[in-house]
Amino acid sequence: MYLKYSSYKSANSFVKDDFGKDFHWGVSTAAFQTEGSPIADGKGLSIWDVFSTKKGRIYQNQNAEVACDFYHRYEEDIKLMAEMNIPNFRFSVSWSRIIPAGTGTINQAGIDFYNKVIDCCLVNGVEPWITLYHWDLPNILEEKGGWTNRKILEWFSEYVTVCAQKFGDRVKHWMVLNEPLVFTGAGYFLGLHAPGKKGIKNFLPAVHHAALCQSIGGRILKRIIRDSRIGTTFSSTLIEPYRKNKKDENAAIRVDALVNRLFIEPSLGMGYPTMELPFLKKIDKYKHKGDEELLKFDFDFIGIQNYTREIIKKSWFVPFIKATNVKAEKRKVPTTQMGWEVYPPSIYEILRKFGNYDQSKELIVTENGAAFPDHLTDGNVNDTNRKKFIKKHLQEVLRAKKEGVNVRGYFVWSFTDNFEWAEGYKPRFGLVYIDYKTQKRSIKSSGIWYSEFLKNASSLR
Ligand code: NOJ
Repeated sequence: MYLKYSSYKSANSFVKDDFGKDFHWGVSTAAFQTEGSPIADGKGLSIWDVFSTKKGRIYQNQNAEVACDFYHRYEEDIKLMAEMNIPNFRFSVSWSRIIPAGTGTINQAGIDFYNKVIDCCLVNGVEPWITLYHWDLPNILEEKGGWTNRKILEWFSEYVTVCAQKFGDRVKHWMVLNEPLVFTGAGYFLGLHAPGKKGIKNFLPAVHHAALCQSIGGRILKRIIRDSRIGTTFSSTLIEPYRKNKKDENAAIRVDALVNRLFIEPSLGMGYPTMELPFLKKIDKYKHKGDEELLKFDFDFIGIQNYTREIIKKSWFVPFIKATNVKAEKRKVPTTQMGWEVYPPSIYEILRKFGNYDQSKELIVTENGAAFPDHLTDGNVNDTNRKKFIKKHLQEVLRAKKEGVNVRGYFVWSFTDNFEWAEGYKPRFGLVYIDYKTQKRSIKSSGIWYSEFLKNASSLR
């Protein structure tokens, strides 16, 4: 049974209101992972549509042609959200749905779709939060080099302008990019994500152009929607050395610079962390006059996305950073279905770290959650592991908040199970289970708990 707020509250238990009345609670999703319908109503293909048709790239060669069918079921999902007392919904816009050729002609059907999603949110008392870029670049732009081509500054500006003009009257919370290190690192260095490019020659220009688009996008949104709150999101992971020796400690410092500092520091006017990562000096080749200034933007909030921690040791064999992580499996620690260590203090340390920048503003946890192998039995999913994961992380968020970190929101990844990129449908992250054969939604016990908690009726203990 769920603990009732009125009947139980001890010193070490917490309720929603302990986070403050102005705390933003929500759930997050992304277009490619949920919408399906890749060519419906004039949509252009994205790099993920193309990448996921290539053999051997995605778990069991699965694809996201249907995914959660959010394109047709958005109403059902948003109503369910409202029934679950979820006040904020973070989703992304698919660039190629609204501008199929990446630039130029606007696809009215795409605009209509997001208008319907936004209006449906508002009618149901759910606040829409938009991420502009959650990794699904129009493929036609990739054919011109994608993020490695400096022209993306113009393409992206055009896309942001269209979104701001069409949706800005009703949407007041915006995030420019989702986890730029992941889409540049996995997509343009390791080749594991779309577009599947590899090597430093692709990675460095992609990083620089993404960092520029991050601030350019922020400026455009602010100019067009004056009363908006503008953020961007970062993957962020506590990095710790394997052994207490200089070699591993320095390796951890290098990885931390790459994982946690590469994109936030240029936006704060601190430049890239070249001291720790000298290879980043090669970015100079892609810089134009005035770029240092252009990289800066005073975000209203920073989106923190945290799932785990990494333990790092020195490695001579790994190029550029000379460091490698010691996998959770090897360390014999508890993990999620992704093989990521379950380590709730990571989110506390990360919030403190990001809160420590002099210029740092508000922090919002725009993603946190876990994949576990769920089982649907008689319409129920008894995912106590996920519930425990979320509660423990919330306790750590509250700890940071009580110590003065300016954290103002928490969004669970994810509302429903969805298409987990190269891992396909196997990892289930949702508060709501999806039977992909029937598209039937079933609220998991973690979802029931979260909705009780959001009513201020269930304790965090
Ligand atoms: C980060 C990404 O933003 C999201 O798309 C992904 O599904 C989750 N983390 C889980 O890996």
